Amino acid sequence: MSSFEARNAHFDRLFATPSLYWLGQNTNHLPMHPAVRAALTAAIAAEEFHAYAPPAGFEALRHAIVNDLGLSGGDMAALVTDGAVAALATVCRAYCGPGTRFVTTDPGWKWPMQFARQAGAEVHEIPIYDAAAGYRLTAEQLAAAVDRTTRIIYLVDPNNPLGIRYTQEEMRAFCDIARNAGALVLHDCTYRDFAEDHVLAARLYPEGAVTIYSFSKWLGLAGLRVGAVVANRAVIGRLAEHASATLGCSVIAQRAAEAGIAVKAEWMATVQPVQRRNQAAIRDAVARVPGLALPVYPSHGNFLIVECAALGLRPEALAATYAERGIMIRQGAYHTPRFGARFVKVSTTVPTDWIDAVCRLLPEAVEEARGLNDVPELF
Ligand SMILES: Cc1ncc(COP(=O)(O)O)c(C=O)c1O
Repeated sequence: MSSFEARNAHFDRLFATPSLYWLGQNTNHLPMHPAVRAALTAAIAAEEFHAYAPPAGFEALRHAIVNDLGLSGGDMAALVTDGAVAALATVCRAYCGPGTRFVTTDPGWKWPMQFARQAGAEVHEIPIYDAAAGYRLTAEQLAAAVDRTTRIIYLVDPNNPLGIRYTQEEMRAFCDIARNAGALVLHDCTYRDFAEDHVLAARLYPEGAVTIYSFSKWLGLAGLRVGAVVANRAVIGRLAEHASATLGCSVIAQRAAEAGIAVKAEWMATVQPVQRRNQAAIRDAVARVPGLALPVYPSHGNFLIVECAALGLRPEALAATYAERGIMIRQGAYHTPRFGARFVKVSTTVPTDWIDAVCRLLPEAVEEARGLNDVPELF
């Protein structure tokens, strides 16, 4: 079976697993807000989906997204996409090409690197898995990596998988480097709503920051596929020429997204205490198993990485052990071949009993994983 078919079969199996605990993709499995449910059912009842949506998204949603980022009143506009991932693909198609450079961190999120390479760019990854540097990119590292051919500096902030987020001072330095090089800051803020004091590059570098917006994590719409890219109108015009959703994105998903933004403050006031409580439960469980460690705590995302390298334990073995118990967690290699042997990642926007099961099973899962050599392929 080809790797692509094997990967598809893997996720198909996960979907077919009854009551699977989804803790591997930072998705949000808390019961949805009634207003979102009402919007979804109303859109279906009205059979709105017979028509195509406007190519850049419903105007109300476009405005709500820009407003949600606090960027309204200026020259910023949103292009609604099939999830943040389609927004990232569109930016790479529009700005990468042979002879250009795409700079990002390792670890980070792997698919945009693939999009950049496909468009002909050279991808340069800066290693940041370093306790001494606080697991963060430094301005010195970035300055050394950026040259005149650099078109995109891709920052996942808060970083997936690390859970760090950048300060105003750090972001200002990154934006200055980008401005001097004539590069865009592609600011992937998918996890922004879980962070404290998140700083938008678009505030510091409005002419060259491109903000990526997702509804998958804070609102829990991953399977509906809706997201956006926000930038100044000149950039959005160029992106629109390269967008693949010329017939618009899902009407139903956009209705759910509109409803979600309208109740966002109330919704996040219920989500954040749960995901923070879940982070604390993992912290306590990890502290009870000698050899396990949390490099970053608390996380500014809805996930935590747990280091298991000191135990001589393969992350894949731990993930496979949990998988046998109907629990999906993520092996570090998904994010980074270089550092992936060190950690697993667990999502925290899930019911508390899912996290409690992970915590309860941790000592026995670690013991079992130590003896496990034959691990099925994970993706
Ligand atoms: C950093 C980052 N960007 C984008 C995405 C994809 O978001 P969406 O579901 O909106 O396509 C993910 C999903 O895990 C992610 O981690």
